[in-house]
Amino acid sequence: MSDVAIKLAKSAKRLKDIAIIVPGAFLTFAGYSIYEGNEKFYREYVMPFTHKFFDAETAHRLGVLAAKYNIVPRKQKTPDSPILSSVVFGREFSNPVGLAAGFDKDGEGVRGLTKIGFGFIEIGSVTPEPQPGNPKPRVFRLKEDKAVINRYGFNSEGHEAVYNRLKDRVTEQDNCLLGINLGKNKSSTDPISDYTQGVEKFSRLADYLVVNISSPNTPGLRDLQGKQKLQNLLDKVIERRDEMEVRKPLLVKIAPDLTDRDKEDIAAVVTSRKGYVNGLIISNTTVRRPPSLKNPSKTEEGGLSGPPVRDMSTKTIADMYRLTNGSIPIIGVGGVSSGQEAYKKIRSGASLVQLYTALVYEGPPVVKKIKRELEELLRRDGFKSISEAVGADVKL
Ligand SMILES: Cc1cc2nc3c(=O)[nH]c(=O)nc-3n(C[C@H](O)[C@H](O)[C@H](O)COP(=O)(O)O)c2cc1C
Repeated sequence: MSDVAIKLAKSAKRLKDIAIIVPGAFLTFAGYSIYEGNEKFYREYVMPFTHKFFDAETAHRLGVLAAKYNIVPRKQKTPDSPILSSVVFGREFSNPVGLAAGFDKDGEGVRGLTKIGFGFIEIGSVTPEPQPGNPKPRVFRLKEDKAVINRYGFNSEGHEAVYNRLKDRVTEQDNCLLGINLGKNKSSTDPISDYTQGVEKFSRLADYLVVNISSPNTPGLRDLQGKQKLQNLLDKVIERRDEMEVRKPLLVKIAPDLTDRDKEDIAAVVTSRKGYVNGLIISNTTVRRPPSLKNPSKTEEGGLSGPPVRDMSTKTIADMYRLTNGSIPIIGVGGVSSGQEAYKKIRSGASLVQLYTALVYEGPPVVKKIKRELEELLRRDGFKSISEAVGADVKL
């Protein structure tokens, strides 16, 4: 073979090696970064890649399936710092960061989700009977706003299916508590019964139960937040809760769109008797559309979540903390994607926080980021525990 032919053959082999090594190295790096839960890699590559190829509902479904089949970053090696632990409504939380309702509506992904590092996860909303929810499309990403609008309308496999899926679960698995969020069927003529059935079905399984009366996508649901209706509903639901063999903490989830009068009424109802309602979840999505929104999907109907709801939710937390005199634990939710934002909600009166939309844009590593930053902020300000910081910014 001539010198030229030998050189050409060598170059071709080198190119072939490069063609194998470069993608191989990239795949190894990508696999390692996903396994390790690399924050930047998820935020800048994994989540944008997913958004490029899948619409919002398909991406959501893939996320639930990933959790179901345990395709999530490896579990953190060290236990949560004791500064992050607290006892709220009689339950011990290893850290205050929880998954908000709506991601795992049917309790399919509990196994994987507990590994992500949440202190608690809330499944649901679950309705008594299975129902399909609203027609698609019904979820929209507002990329420039890091927000989501959804009008799922309580698509749910129903009580029976969710119960059967979770009935053998050991509570307090992996230091992660389980909340079950209850909704009502669209066609129900007796909403009170929908919630009492939920209490009956899930009291044994759940670490806490939620009466969700604040989703904007079920006609008439939010009217249950009115004083008389709320009192009637809670009287019956709590009576049923108190008759159960195991009495689980019962929380009420409210909207960020309430008037001052609504808030006063809700505060009066939930504090009407000791041990009645054990907590408030503040807040659900908003039906408002702040002028700051940039993405054209802002005109879609439904509930808006993420940064645009953050301040509305934090203000509602502070208002309700003041109106209830700090006597009812609050779970703060709405636009939490950093330790700073979680800390603000805690200083405004939240004992725990939750997130959903941050997971859409940052993926599972956002949980460990929030915990790390929150721990730094608590230490910086000389707090020895979360509970010392709760309500620090609110004058009672
Ligand atoms: C796609 C989607 C579905 C949701 N479904 C429910 C639900 O079924 N029940 C509920 O109580 N909240 C539901 N929520 C509201 C969230 O639990 C949370 O209160 C709200 O999104 C604000 O938090 P975030 O800004 O961290 O997302 C849903 C939110 C989103 C984005």
